Amino acid sequence: MFNDFKLVDDRPVYVQLKDYLKEMIMKGHLLEHQKLPSTRELSKLLSISRNTVLNAYADLEQEGIIYAVKGKGNFVGKVTTLKTPSIELNWKERLNKATLLADELDLIRQDIHWKKGMISFNSVAPEEKLFDVENFKRAFLTRMSMEGDIVLNYGYAKGYKPLIEYLLHYMEIKGVDISNKDILITNGFTEGLDILISSLAKKSGRVLCENPTHHAALKLFRLHGLEIQGIDMQDDGIDIDQVEKSLLEKDFDFAYLIPSYHNPTGIVTSSEKRNAIIQLFSKHQIPIVEDGFNEELRYSGSHLAPLMTFIGAGNSIVYISSFSKILFPGLRVGWILADKQLIHCLESMKRARTIHTSTLDQAVLYQYLQDGYFEKYLKKARSVYKKKYELARQACKQYISFKRMTGDGGLHLFIELEEGINARILLEKCYKKGVVFYPGDVFYTNGGGSNTFRLGFSRLQDEDIVRGIQIIGDTLKNDMGS
Ligand SMILES: Cc1ncc(COP(=O)(O)O)c(C=O)c1O
Repeated sequence: MFNDFKLVDDRPVYVQLKDYLKEMIMKGHLLEHQKLPSTRELSKLLSISRNTVLNAYADLEQEGIIYAVKGKGNFVGKVTTLKTPSIELNWKERLNKATLLADELDLIRQDIHWKKGMISFNSVAPEEKLFDVENFKRAFLTRMSMEGDIVLNYGYAKGYKPLIEYLLHYMEIKGVDISNKDILITNGFTEGLDILISSLAKKSGRVLCENPTHHAALKLFRLHGLEIQGIDMQDDGIDIDQVEKSLLEKDFDFAYLIPSYHNPTGIVTSSEKRNAIIQLFSKHQIPIVEDGFNEELRYSGSHLAPLMTFIGAGNSIVYISSFSKILFPGLRVGWILADKQLIHCLESMKRARTIHTSTLDQAVLYQYLQDGYFEKYLKKARSVYKKKYELARQACKQYISFKRMTGDGGLHLFIELEEGINARILLEKCYKKGVVFYPGDVFYTNGGGSNTFRLGFSRLQDEDIVRGIQIIGDTLKNDMGS
């Protein structure tokens, strides 16, 4: 007995001993009223100090797991562990349709699994080596010393007030009229969209969006049972004639659009088109959910204002965003900016579902933003990504014979091959040569896009970007005759 007690480095020894003894008692290896070794014996046996054993025994006694008898020692107390015969349930049978669908649509599970050492163009996450960890630590310490007690307690469902104020001002600087609007803080963009869809009445049960579009959004639309009407993308944004036709033919509960550095095509909707979009949807009284996720990743050209700026004091746009692509996606902090009354109701939905987003995370993010680190970091990140973007574009032009390449900025490019060339077959062949990318069909609303793929370059070294694209191009040429 006790010979399987193994110590790990970074945990107090008395806690490890306490946990070990507790487990032995709970599992029935030490029986009720059994005498435990004396503190002297056990410290000798395990080569630990006597004080450590004393501390462990004291904690166990306080928890009522052991008891001491003066002059006799320590004994195992009464532990009731009710053991009933175990049964095997079939959980799969008990899952609802949406969960089974979520499982089926879970790209992470279905991805071709890349191995270490491969060149992966799959990710469109930020490059973590760029993360400004030192200043984030500083922001953490500052906020904790100012109000650690407050941020560790329950907070408001709507979000951490200073962050909301900051973001309202941030959106105002972008040109948005914030009068009659408010913000709800969410766990990233994705939860924001989920809360919104969960809150809207299903009238037509239809959503209109760009085709292709963000896979996570498509997944949510499907899980919520919405019928999806995808509209083709042109080089300057959604095909407005097709939108007009669809709006005349059918009703929609809302439209979902990504006007800047669209995922997956990377296209920036022109200002003329932004204007036309607003006119059309306003005429048909259909709300737009604007995804602002990539707005900050502009490398050149003039600034294009969010769609929300076009509606002035109007309330037909729900703007959802996060700093996931430019700051720290692991923080899971995003926001919904919308009509005040709508936010009031979404706040109740948020409270009902998750109480609130971590106040600590919001508070540290606020401090980081407030201290001006974001602007500095953004400058650095933009210049690094711009270089990678230009390199990737240039390499694609040089090595890949594509029909169309799009991507006006952001962290990825989108390639359309000649009709009939299957990007999944290309992927299989490239995988054998150590290169992976995202086949574009997963972003399509209607099963199209078999000849497309997305190249995320943000987390790759320059030489890997070029080498990977060259391998894709050579494979296309040599193995697929393109
Ligand atoms: C179109 C789009 N919107 C939003 C996001 C960010 O989502 P989240 O804030 O939940 O990480 C992404 C991330 O890839 C995206 O591609």
